[in-house]
Formats: sequence, C-alpha cells, structure tokens
Amino acid sequence: KKHIGILTSGGDCAGLNACIRAVTLHACLGQGWRVTGIRYGTAGLMQTPPQTVELTPELFDTSYLRRAGTLLGSVNTGNPFAFPMPDGSRKDRSEEVIAGYRSLGLDALIGIGGDGSLAILRRLAQQGGIPLVGIPKTIDNDVAQTENALGYATAVQVAIEALDRLQPTAASHDRVMVLEVMGRDAGHIALNAGISGGADVILIPEIPYSAEKVAEKVKAVRAAGRNFALIIVAEAVRTEDGTAIMQTHGSGETRYGGIGQYIGEAVERLTGAEVRVTVLGHVQRGAEAVPQDRLLASVFGAHAVDMVAAGRFDRMVAWQNRQTVEVPLTEIVDKSHRVDPEGVMVETARQLGISFGD
Ligand code: F6P
Repeated sequence: KKHIGILTSGGDCAGLNACIRAVTLHACLGQGWRVTGIRYGTAGLMQTPPQTVELTPELFDTSYLRRAGTLLGSVNTGNPFAFPMPDGSRKDRSEEVIAGYRSLGLDALIGIGGDGSLAILRRLAQQGGIPLVGIPKTIDNDVAQTENALGYATAVQVAIEALDRLQPTAASHDRVMVLEVMGRDAGHIALNAGISGGADVILIPEIPYSAEKVAEKVKAVRAAGRNFALIIVAEAVRTEDGTAIMQTHGSGETRYGGIGQYIGEAVERLTGAEVRVTVLGHVQRGAEAVPQDRLLASVFGAHAVDMVAAGRFDRMVAWQNRQTVEVPLTEIVDKSHRVDPEGVMVETARQLGISFGD
C-alpha cells in the first residue's frame, strides 16, 4: 500500500481540482493507497512541519470537476533554488524542500506544473532522489511534448467570450478594440481565440509585425464597409523596436503586460480610428473548466497514478495523437512549445483573411 504526495505549482488554471480529484479517486479507490496533498507547492514543503492536507475520495463532490483554482494552493514566484528573501536577496532553499518531502514518508510525488515548475521539480527530484511523475498544466500551452496542457482550453474560451462581448460594443461605437491576452512567450491563446472569436488582426510573439501593416488592415476593413475591427495581441509581443513591456511586482518578479496599450496608441495614430484597449489578465485563469479540461484532468490524473504504480518516474504524462503518452522530463526541460508560424492554425487564419501584421 503506497502513500503518495501531490502538489500544484506555478500559476493556477482550470482543471487543477479535477486533476487532484482524479489522482485521489484512482489512487484511493483503484489502488487502495493513501494520498497527501501538499499545500502551496514547494513553499509548503519548506515549512516545518510541511503544510499538507489528507485527500480522500469523500472530499471530492462533483463540483471539483468544474471548480477553478487549486484547493491545494500554489506559488508562481518562489523558485526554491533562488528563493526571494525579505531583504531582496535570493537563497537556495532546495535542501529544505527535500527535507520537508522526506519528513512526510512518501513513496512518490505527483507534481502538476507548467514547464518552469516541472523543471524545478525535476531538479529537486534529481537532487533528493524523489520518485516524481509530472502532469502538464498552463493556460499558455507552452509545455513541450504535449498537444494540450490543463487549463489552456478554458483560457481560450474566456478570451473568445471577451471578443464576443467586445464585438457588439465595437460595432455600436465604430471602434477598434484591442484585446491583450496572456500566454507568456507563446501566442497560442491569442491565435486560437483570435480565429474562434473573429479577430481581424492577431499579433503573436512568433510572427514579427509592423504597426503600419496592422493599420493597413484596419483601414482595409473600414474601406470594405465594416465600421469596427477587433485586434487580439499576446502579452509577449514586443514594441516595434524589440522592447518587451514588463511590469515589476512586489516580489521583484517581472511579468509581461502593457503591449495592448502600445498597439492601441499606434493604431489610433496611424488610422485616426477610435480605439479602446482591454487587458484580460488573470480572468483567463479563473473560469470553470470547459469539458476538454475536465477530461484531460481526469485522464492525466488517473494515468499519473498508473505511472507511479508501475514505477515509471522522471516522466510526464502527455497528450499526443488522441492518447496519453509518457515523456521523459528531460525532454520538456528548457524546451518550449511555441506557435508554428508555418502551422495549420496560422495558415487557416490567413486563409480567413486575418492579418498577423506582417
Ligand atoms: O503562466 C501562466 C501565466 O498566467 C502567464 O500567462 C502570465 O504571464 C503569468 O502566468 C502571470 O503570472 P502571475 O500569476 O505571477 O501574475
């Protein structure tokens, strides 16, 4: 009878609770194991004693299939190898995390994280001899080797709904609406929501653009008799001179944010159109999970338990060609799944007359 731990690490997203539920149901009911939830990811393991919660099937009514957030809590700023200290310095606290893990007497750890978190967890696992199975999650969908990560489909849905709601007000006021969406260094959310939500222009970090070309598209839309236009821009898109627009937060961490305003001002200047800018922000992380994320969460969670049962560690469960596969964690560390500028989504967008400003 095994005793496993589970944690969520990095930015929250839809599907995490459904995944924790799936792990708990399959581990407890299917295998007869015990499951301990670790709170606040690696930060919870730094505490003495570690912050934990016992997970049992009875805890999980069906609302957890849809509930956003993570019942375990998460951290997006506390890399234990360079942990931010109150005096502004950084400290390697990895041994504290490993000691916390060991104190729990666990047989294995299931870590649900994005590429950054999974890389950190793998480094900890190597250093501390922790049997680790990874599950990919991130609204950015930039984890390598998996077609989809948990939370991405729901974030795209939120961005589509935003475009759906911007369209009538844009049409009512003859305006150009700019919607800035998240995605870190990848343009997946902007591209997929842009196609599905009817954007006229999609700007993503993978395709260089010029404001002049964006303005030309807006003018063409108006010349063709439509009084409004929709532009969706991924947060990591840079200014035309290549500057990334970043915000520095209290912890000293930097995050993308603000390129929508830059694009909006450029379009206003170059077209004379009236422009408004919406920054969608963390709204993209808090929606109830759409069916695809509920399913993926269930499939990933159950399969991760099977991997532990079979002793297949240092791997991540992934989704490829309509099935689960297991990928060595080395194959996702320091890699990133970006939009393919020659891929079918970009091609389709162009075929539909959408401009990438190039
Ligand atoms: O990685 C998920 C994500 O939401 C990115 O899209 C965004 O850039 C970042 O996290 C925001 O981070 P935080 O939650 O720390 O503000």
